[in-house]
Amino acid sequence: MCGIIGIASAKPVFGNIIEALKKLEYRGYDSAGLSTIDNGEINEKKCSGRVNNLEKILFKNPSKGKLGIGHVRWATHGVPNEINAHPHSSEVVSVVHNGIIENSNSIKNELIKKNYLFKSQTDTEVITQLLTNYLKNYDILDSVHKTLERLEGSFALGIIFKNFKDIVVGARRGSPLAVGYGHEENYIGSDSYALKSMTNKISYLEDGEICILTKDKVEFYNSEKNKINKEILTLSNDENKTTKGDFKDFMSKEINEQSVTSKACLKEYIDHLRKDINFYNFPINPNEVNKITFIGCGTAYHSCLIAKYLFEDLTSITVETDIASEFRYRKIKFKKNNLYVFVSQSGETADTFAALDLCKKNNANTCAIVNVVESSIARTANFVLPIHAGPEIGVASTKAFIGQMLVLYLLSLKISKVRNEITDQNYTKSINDLNNLPSLIKEVLAKRDEIQIIAKDFVDSKGTMFLGRGFSYPIALEGALKLKELSYIHAEGYPAGEMKHGPLALIEDGLPVVVLAPKDKYFEKTISNMQEVIARGGKVFLFTDDDSEIISENIRYKFNIPNSNDYIKPFLLTLPLQMLAYYVASFKNCDIDKPRNLAKSVTVE
Ligand code: M6R
Repeated sequence: MCGIIGIASAKPVFGNIIEALKKLEYRGYDSAGLSTIDNGEINEKKCSGRVNNLEKILFKNPSKGKLGIGHVRWATHGVPNEINAHPHSSEVVSVVHNGIIENSNSIKNELIKKNYLFKSQTDTEVITQLLTNYLKNYDILDSVHKTLERLEGSFALGIIFKNFKDIVVGARRGSPLAVGYGHEENYIGSDSYALKSMTNKISYLEDGEICILTKDKVEFYNSEKNKINKEILTLSNDENKTTKGDFKDFMSKEINEQSVTSKACLKEYIDHLRKDINFYNFPINPNEVNKITFIGCGTAYHSCLIAKYLFEDLTSITVETDIASEFRYRKIKFKKNNLYVFVSQSGETADTFAALDLCKKNNANTCAIVNVVESSIARTANFVLPIHAGPEIGVASTKAFIGQMLVLYLLSLKISKVRNEITDQNYTKSINDLNNLPSLIKEVLAKRDEIQIIAKDFVDSKGTMFLGRGFSYPIALEGALKLKELSYIHAEGYPAGEMKHGPLALIEDGLPVVVLAPKDKYFEKTISNMQEVIARGGKVFLFTDDDSEIISENIRYKFNIPNSNDYIKPFLLTLPLQMLAYYVASFKNCDIDKPRNLAKSVTVE
């Protein structure tokens, strides 16, 4: 989604703004722009398409401005063209915005009556014109305040002013905004990652807060316009984790590092000496929990589905799952002994955050499973379980999914242990088995050549299906999601047992169908469903740990995962499906790290 950068400095800023915008590219966008104050005037440059286009414009005509704001836009109101690209400027003010202004039409009509002119179709331009209007009679802080008071919806803003040449203003409600501190320069950015090459000293704005930066200082104000102090965090500075290294793209790097990231995660939670799982300061006694609701979006929601199977298997707790965008609008009956677990890689997904906010307002017990520990969701939940996967840059979530499933599995084991619902022997065996996970992951990833062969059969297909039962059902959903988002091939995941209730009608000669059939309690049933697909001409790709030859007949390809316990199999089945989506997309020359229309961090609902 949209990304914001703002810099107040002692030296020209356009080069750093361009570099920061490149860092924000991973969020997904379709146009870019920046504004600086040059010779006392607002100098606005914008383009449709990539930041590279903006860079070319600026290198022909470099800006000398020592203060500026930049933006990558993911279109919501109005097509992605140069006019709708941010910043949106008037004579006196220039604004970049992330989020949606829900009452923009009514404000626009009111301003049009006052003879304000609008050039774009965006909701953002009303902010520019409202501010311009207030600046006639009020100082900066009051004008920004009055403007914010009028806005409904969510936003993070970066603002510069023609008549206040050394000031950048940032503000937020609903969308994240980080503030960075440098030497003779200060910054605002949509996330700390955008600021990483410039500083690792960061503060985060909370809803309703405003910051005013000059090159030498940063001031913060709360929603009552009182000056406040903010904590300055020092972030770890591991550049290695945020570059592609020798990989062609971030996704292949992120797929490849899953054995390392899962090892790092296990190291954080498993006490090898005591053969125990540690979750310090868990805020609610697991013996008192009678229901857990797991909530997330997209891939994170699929790990919630895995959690349902895990907790139902290992504990007697009632489990529900919910898609965050549905949960947030339902009439939930919040109860004291219920726990709400939010799963999110970014920790900034607008719907997931709103669902968490709803729980907080109802005094519910909340827990966040996140990758980005400085995120809004992590900062808001009662309790945080990081997945320790390191920065995930590719829009398609891979290592975060494995990390989410891993933490959820560890949590289910621990809760089961505390509730005396798992024997000591099974608990210890599960921990021992988990320790083999990183090497099993490595083993599966080494079979990438086989997946390249399989991928060729998908490149020209118009559609495909992914089937599984039990734990393999959410994995089928995830495999289908990966394929569609990366390769733009229509893909659906189904519980294999549902085929006869409708989807079987889609099977025709040559349709590629992925069947996930690990040797578990569903194996025979899934194999029967597979035979029904084959009988109707479906071209089946079987992913299994069964090594018998008998079932290989009439199967287009059989991909074997190593033997493991049933709870480890979902991890191992996920990997070939990630690689499949990757290779199909790369054979089709799709943009792997930035699939069309998608954003890494979905900060609008
Ligand atoms: O950051 P989050 O985990 O909250 O993001 C949720 C979804 O937007 C995300 O998983 C999305 O579905 C991915 N692009 C899937 O690969």
